[in-house]
Amino acid sequence: MREVLVVGSANADLVVAAERRPSGGETVLGGDTTVLPGGKGANTAVAAAKLGADVALLGAVGDDAYGRMLTESLLAAGVRTDLLATVARPTGIAYITVTPDGENSILVSPGANAALEPSAVEGALTGVKVMVASMEIPLPTVERAVAAAAEAGACALLNLSPAAAVSARTLAALDVLLVNEHEAAWLLGSGAEPAKLLELGPRSAVVTLGARGALVITGDGLTEVASPKVEAVDTTGAGDAFTGALAASLATGVTLETAARKAVRVAAISVTRQGAQPSYPAAEELSAG
Ligand code: RIB
Ligand code: NA
Repeated sequence: MREVLVVGSANADLVVAAERRPSGGETVLGGDTTVLPGGKGANTAVAAAKLGADVALLGAVGDDAYGRMLTESLLAAGVRTDLLATVARPTGIAYITVTPDGENSILVSPGANAALEPSAVEGALTGVKVMVASMEIPLPTVERAVAAAAEAGACALLNLSPAAAVSARTLAALDVLLVNEHEAAWLLGSGAEPAKLLELGPRSAVVTLGARGALVITGDGLTEVASPKVEAVDTTGAGDAFTGALAASLATGVTLETAARKAVRVAAISVTRQGAQPSYPAAEELSAG
């Protein structure tokens, strides 16, 4: 029985450090390329599994070396891969540039992720406590996953990353809408009260605030959750770390605020190390800290 079902992407992250990002028509020389397991779905699943949750990833990879690397990384973290399909498209690739300030910019080639059909969700929700979806897969598949979670009585989380126009019906079926400040502004317009997110339909919402932590929004009001201060080396996948930790905690039955307090710590640790999945802490490191 899987407690947490993650519905989302798996990408090979091709990471290169550079002094600055090239602009149009410009060539910039960077460092050596590092190939790391990534993708918002796979990252979320690994983050949750490392914290001890029973997790499966519903996703798709290609029949190639990157697909095998991703499958191995998931299995090594303890993620179930029985719902990870191998399809006739290349594995998704994310081209990531990291600059000295720890900031990243990402170009994603979805490949196999684009072949994840809504029908893949059928039967996958049985016994699931928490379903968490993110947006690097076809929108109809995300919407089907949210509807199926609601039908199965599972807690439905959506990490609206990257921002996309989900239907009002999907937003209304969510237990938790998870966004960063940019995505919140995209949904509400800039300068809007974060509490307005609930007017879009979800029962609760969480806005991640980067180094400042997160904002938890429920019918009872707003709670700010501060992040520990850390030296950022690579913020790639920090949002996915937060999402996975939040899902893993919610599966244990704690409140959204308690889950968010753990999730900011997990995300803060992740930014102190290179890469996404390899930077995520295990439960032991978290309890030691
Ligand atoms: O959120 C970080 C992830 O976004 C990276 O791992 C990359 O694969 C892109 O999907
Ligand atoms: Na990191």
